[in-house]
Amino acid sequence: MAISCSLPVTLDSDTNLFLMGLAPMAVNPARQNKGIGSQLARAGIEECRALGAAGLVVLGHPKYYSRFGFSPSANFGIKSKYDGAPEVFMVLELSAEVFAGKAGIISFHSSFARL
Ligand SMILES: CC(C)(COP(=O)(O)OP(=O)(O)OC[C@H]1O[C@@H](n2cnc3c(N)ncnc32)[C@H](O)[C@@H]1OP(=O)(O)O)[C@@H](O)C(=O)NCCC(=O)NCCS
Repeated sequence: MAISCSLPVTLDSDTNLFLMGLAPMAVNPARQNKGIGSQLARAGIEECRALGAAGLVVLGHPKYYSRFGFSPSANFGIKSKYDGAPEVFMVLELSAEVFAGKAGIISFHSSFARL
């Protein structure tokens, strides 16, 4: 089994930005390392792009998500509202320089708390 989901998130320094969070994502351990996670990640990114999202955030393993273009949110002065090691919170710009000069705090959609 594999799950993948994306939900809107809000950046407090520019609440008009249409941003999405790629989470949660998981692949059954018995099925891992067969490319399923990569297909889910790429499909999720393209779906969010098609919806018109200007950027994405993800909470996960830096080495894994960097292969899809994500970089540490700290590079832009952006943090998650929730506790956690800063290096596991990452962003991907779908529109050029969408996060430049937008230091702030990301909040996840309230639906996320119910997942
Ligand atoms: C992360 C996860 C979704 C990857 O799924 P997957 O189907 O195994 O991914 P793929 O087969 O596409 O990719 C496997 C590659 O990712 C790497 N990888 C997997 N987990 C990793 C991790 N935690 N850190 C770094 N690399 C990781 C593997 O080493 C492998 O590398 P390779 O391509 O160089 O051999 C899966 O490991 C998982 O469900 N983990 C538990 C839940 C989780 O952490 N989700 C992410 C946060 S929401």
